[in-house]
Order: sequence, then structure tokens, then C-alpha cells
Amino acid sequence: MTASADNFDLVILGGGSGGYACAFRAAELGLRVALVEKDKVGGTCLHRGCIPTKALLHAAEVADSAREGSKFGVKTTFESVDMAGVHSYKDGVIGRLYKGLQGLVKSHDITFVEGTGRLSSPSTVTVGDRVLTGKNVVLATGSYAKTLPSVEIGGHIVTSDQALSIDHVPSRVIVLGGGVIGVEFASVFSSFGSEVTIVEALPRLVAAEDEAISKQLERAFKKRKIKALTNAKLASATQQGDEVTVTLESGDTITADLLLVAVGRGPVTDDLGYAEAGVTIDRGFVITDERCRTGVPGVYAVGDIVPGLQLAHRGFAQGIFVAEDIAGKAPTPIDESGIPRVTYCDPEIASVGLTEAAAREKHGDSTTSYDYNLGGNGKSQILQTQGFVKVVRAGDTGAVVGVHMIGARMGEQVGEAQLIVGWEALPDDVASLIHAHPTQNEALGEAHLALAGKPLHAHA
Ligand code: NAI
Repeated sequence: MTASADNFDLVILGGGSGGYACAFRAAELGLRVALVEKDKVGGTCLHRGCIPTKALLHAAEVADSAREGSKFGVKTTFESVDMAGVHSYKDGVIGRLYKGLQGLVKSHDITFVEGTGRLSSPSTVTVGDRVLTGKNVVLATGSYAKTLPSVEIGGHIVTSDQALSIDHVPSRVIVLGGGVIGVEFASVFSSFGSEVTIVEALPRLVAAEDEAISKQLERAFKKRKIKALTNAKLASATQQGDEVTVTLESGDTITADLLLVAVGRGPVTDDLGYAEAGVTIDRGFVITDERCRTGVPGVYAVGDIVPGLQLAHRGFAQGIFVAEDIAGKAPTPIDESGIPRVTYCDPEIASVGLTEAAAREKHGDSTTSYDYNLGGNGKSQILQTQGFVKVVRAGDTGAVVGVHMIGARMGEQVGEAQLIVGWEALPDDVASLIHAHPTQNEALGEAHLALAGKPLHAHA
């Protein structure tokens, strides 16, 4: 490789959602791109996060369907979960997507550099002996599963990384952390047949969601016999033989066969040369402005290393934004408040915009909301699911600023919810749109009908 061959318009450090999206868009815009990845293109989302966990959740749903056939008059029996079979299904999904992604790297004519990169100056990334020079550099090194100082990962104490390839269904599981990863895995293990206890330090599960969502999830989990201990802080976790014992600060102890630690994900920014190059780091995160600029000219950062929602689709959007910015397209900065969120436990949670509490803080006490119960929605009854669609409006006459949904398949409804919030629609605007019958999407329409003062299938 000649020295001039290693000069690029853009060198991207990290080939996860943020990094590869940036590479693809930049290449489409005619920029010369190098993408550095030490493992596999696709990163956490494809190999250790979104895709494998949602495959596990789908297998969990199939197990529940097998158990619940009689609810629908269909005679089925649930025999067991064959983890080898589950992994072969999950790995097949990952494998096909990975192959597709590798094909896209090739077809975009991107220089893919395999190896561990380091920001050796504001315009160079060093990978082994190779120095890649970029007019611009994008940092996209992602995140890792955190643990607590008192909890050592190993043996029967795992993070989501190891939990993804567990070879048997443990009889008893403790899930430490009732956030997004915690409730998704609790849902999977419970459907697979484990007895599950969640230990959450805060007063409620999925604490970032609207309070009504947490309440409904806790009710649903209770019905599913998933135990949720809230306001519960861990004091210690010890392993003896094949068991793990968790001691809470209250003095209570819980024993299980597996402890899954899901207490958040930390940014991967240590020892990569970022601070030395002048990039501002705060508690491990890279600080940027709304244009993803780090403050060091020509150095950008995207994805989980930037404070905010650690979601793959935020990373994609930031990566695309940076590529267009560098290409001189002057894109509009991303509105973080409009990013949709879906948690794929059963029941599923989907939300966008402000919670009712946040809306009250921002828009005052006249803030109004309406909870449309899925009990009035035909398709939800057909699916035998429970939950609601909650719509929050600014004041009593303003636009819709938040939509919060819970129930089977509600993640699929977040697209329209996002348009409503993003376009600052009034309930009346949405009420005049016709929603197809019988769909769960109607529940979103009916919530707006009710908020606009013309309820149809709604009880007072
Ligand atoms: P999280 O921040 O969502 O939840 C961590 C939970 O652990 C919090 O509720 C916290 O109060 C609790 N916790 C912390 N220390 C504790 C302690 N000592 N004892 C008991 N509880 C404690 O982080 P999580 O679930 O690990 O997920 C990490 C990131 O990955 C999140 O930002 C999430 O958005 C993202 N993710 C997104 C998914 C999706 O979009 N469906 C799926 C999985 C992860």
C-alpha cells in the first residue's frame, strides 16, 4: 500500500451502526472513505445487541404461543426450549444480515481496514503499522456492557454479551437492572421457563418511560410471574458452586443459577488517543455540538460514545448527518427529542417525545393526556393483548408532544406516533385521518379522536 493510497476524505473509527452508516453515505456522495473495525462490521447492534436479542424475543413469543394455543381453541403443547436450535435460528439471522452488510461495504467501494485503530493525531488513525490520514475523522467506537465495582463478571454472573449464547435455560435468573436490557431479558427467560427476579434500584421498571407505562409493565410482569423488586439496591453478589447469591442493601438475599447484570452501557473511549488529540471527554463520553463536532477541527463523533439515547437508529442518523455535513450538504441537525424508542419485552413498549411529567414541567399544569385502553381495540382483542396508547398534548389546546404505548406489537405503531410528534400535529389533525379497521393502528387514531373531543370506541 503506498502512502498516498492511505489518504482519505474521511477515516471512520468503528464499523457499528454509526460508523458504517456514515461510510455508506459518504461513499454515495463521492468521498474517499476508510472504515476501521477490529471485529465485525455491524458492531453491537448486529452481533451482540438489537438483532440477536430480538431473535431471542421472537423465539420467546413462539414458546408462549405454543403454551397458549388453547386460549384460541387450538390444541398445542409446549415441550421445551432447545437452546442449540434457538442459537442456530438467531445466528442464521445474524449471518444473513452480516453477509449483506459485507456486500454493501464492497459495493460502496469503501477501504475496509481490519484491526484496532487509534486516533494518533487529529487527522490520522493508526492501525498496526498503517497510518490512515483523513481530511476528517469520525469517532464511532460504541459502547460496552457495564458492571458494578462489587460485581465481577464470570461464571454464573454474566452481561448481555454472554447471556446471548447461554447453552441451557437456567431454572432461576436474577436480572440486575430493570432498564431496557433488563426487562427484555427478563421477558425472554420467563418465556423460556426460568423463574425470574428483577432487582432495580429505582422506584420503577423502565424508569425513563412515562410512569403509566412502568405501572402497566409491572402489572403485566406480575401476571407473567416475573418478580420485580424495585427500590432494591445490591450490596454484593457471590458465587458458590453452581449458584449465585445476591445480597441486597436491605439484608435480603436471593439465590439463583444465573445473574444477568444490565446496569447500563458505557462508552468505549479509553486508550484510543481521543483526549491526547484534544477531544473533550466527560465521564468517558465524547462531547459534541449539535453537528456532531468534537471541538477539534475535522474530528466528529457519532453513536453510543456521544451522550444521549444509546440506540442504533440514532447512530445511523448521526452517521448519515456527518457524511452529508462533510460533503457540504448542510443537513439539518437531528432533533433528539423526536427519536422513537421501542422496548421489545412482552408486552412491548413504544414511545416518542415527552412523558406526561416532562410535558407538565415544560408546558405547565394545563398539560392534558388521554389513555386509550386497548380493550376497545378490535385487533388487540383478537391478539388477546392488554395495554394502552397514551397521548400527551402541550397545555389543553396545544400540539401532541408525547405518545406512549404498551401492548403486543405496539412497536410497529411508533412510525405514525413519530410523525405526529415530529410534525407537531394537533389532536384534531390526526382525528381527521382515517385509520384502517381492524388494526392496532386504530388505537392511535382513537386516542386522538378522544383527545379532540369525539371519542368513538372509548369509555369515559
Ligand atoms: P438502562 O440505563 O436502560 O437501565 C439500567 C438500569 O439499571 C436502570 O434502571 C438503573 O436504575 C439500574 N441500576 C443501575 N445500578 C443498579 C444497581 N446497583 N442495582 C439495581 N439497579 C441498578 O441500561 P441497559 O438496560 O443496560 O441498556 C443500555 C442501553 O442499551 C440503553 O441506553 C438502552 O436504550 C440500549 N438498549 C436499547 C434497546 C432497545 O432499543 N430495544 C435494547 C437494549 C438496550
